[in-house]
This record gives sequence, structure tokens and C-alpha cells, in this order.
Amino acid sequence: MSASIAIQGLGVERRYGGFRALKGVDIAVKRGEIRGLIGPNGAGKSTLIDVLSGRVRGQPGKVLLDGKDISALKPQERRRLGLARSFQRTNIFPALSVEQQLRIASWAVTDAGIEEVMAELNLTALARTPAAEISYGDQRRLDLALALVGRPSVLLLDEPAAGLTVEESHGLATILRDLANRWNVTVLLVEHDMQVVFSICDGITVLHLGQTLAEGGVAEIRADKRVVTAYLGTEA
Ligand SMILES: Nc1ncnc2c1ncn2[C@@H]1O[C@H](COP(=O)(O)OP(=O)(O)O)[C@@H](O)[C@H]1O
Ligand SMILES: [Mg+2]
Repeated sequence: MSASIAIQGLGVERRYGGFRALKGVDIAVKRGEIRGLIGPNGAGKSTLIDVLSGRVRGQPGKVLLDGKDISALKPQERRRLGLARSFQRTNIFPALSVEQQLRIASWAVTDAGIEEVMAELNLTALARTPAAEISYGDQRRLDLALALVGRPSVLLLDEPAAGLTVEESHGLATILRDLANRWNVTVLLVEHDMQVVFSICDGITVLHLGQTLAEGGVAEIRADKRVVTAYLGTEA
């Protein structure tokens, strides 16, 4: 496929028994792009992230990283090739310090750049603090930091700002936008706060009932009647 596409899903399906959570989804995220992945609860956003990251395998469809078919690879193998996803907060070991957690996350990568990642995410001062003792907002930045060790080329983020205040989510979004630019990271971002999505995404894919409902630039998606009806409502 085109060399400018960083991560691609082709005809991705996912069944739970007889229920089709993903019904043949195509998605292609260009190198350096931040793509918002939005849609109502149950649309299949997390399931799509699971398929792209390799947590779910052996279903119809293909996943390509830089044009290479990685469909059969396990998450750790994909991670070594530069495809990372954010860890859920529950994956943090409460007793370990911020720095110790980053060291554990770096086992799969070479040249982790832990000091650099801590500095970028304003975690340096907390390096020796046990994760259980840091604030919720700091924990969400630690989640992002865990995914960023080794400077992945592609980052899949499933609601990284969940539970943050409006101000905190916008702070996180600014860090993400800035970092993606400077480190040339391609990002697929699941996010419910449309202000965040509209302000930092280059493009948006809208999922609805396991299918792509729409895809395009921010202005295009905001003006799309089907998207407004299915998801955005009148407020957007
Ligand atoms: N383990 C599971 N077993 C059965 N159905 C599931 C499971 N996980 C997700 N689903 C269903 O798949 C659909 C997509 O879920 P999900 O990807 O979590 O949606 P989203 O992240 O967009 O809210 C939903 O209808 C959900 O109920
Ligand atoms: Mg979800």
C-alpha cells in the first residue's frame, strides 16, 4: 500500500458468538497524523484498537504496519516494531515508583529514553514516588508515558483523558499534539471530549454499529448530517 500510511486495518471483523462487533472496517492512518476515532458507546472503537494492537487476532481482516502485514503478530511483537497502545490505569503496579514502572514497560524496546519521556510528560519530579501516591491526573500521564517508552512510531490511545477534568484533558491533549509533531508519532485517538478531538486531530473516523459511518477532516465531520444524528447531536 501507499508508503505514507502508518497503520492500516483492512476488512477488520470481530465476532462475539453470533454478534458482529466489527463488520469489515477499513481504516488507514497516515504517517504523522492524529486521527480521532469517535462514535457512540458500543460502536466498536475499543474492539478496533484491540485488533490493531494484536490483543485480538485470528479474525477476518488484515492489519498492516508501514505496509507490512502484522496480522499474525502478538502485541509484544507489534510493540517491538513500533506499534504501542496505552495501558489502562489498572495495569499500573501501585507500589512501584513512576520510574520503576517505566523501566518495566521498556523491556520490549531498545533505547527506551525513559528520562526523556518523563521530562516530556512532566513526571520527572515524581520519578521516585510510588504510583499509588500520585494524583489521578499524573496517573493518566503515566499511562501515556508507559506507551511512549522506546518512542513508538504509532500510538493507539483508548480514552487517555477519561476521568480528567476539562482543564486536565486539554492539558493532556496539548502535550499529545506537541509530542506527536516533534517525535513524528502517528496517533489513533479514541476520545469522547469533542473539543479535544476537534482541536488536536487532523482527521476523524466515525464508527457506528461496527462500521465506518464517516471519515474526513474536522470541518467535514462536524457538518456531516449522519454523524450529527448518530453521535454529535445538535450541540456540536
Ligand atoms: N467480551 C465481549 N463479549 C461480548 N460482546 C462484547 C465484548 N466486548 C465488547 N462487546 C460488544 O462489542 C461492541 C463493541 O464494543 P466496544 O468495542 O467496547 O465499543 P466502544 O469502545 O465503541 O464503546 C458492543 O456492542 C459491546 O457490547
Ligand atoms: Mg471503548
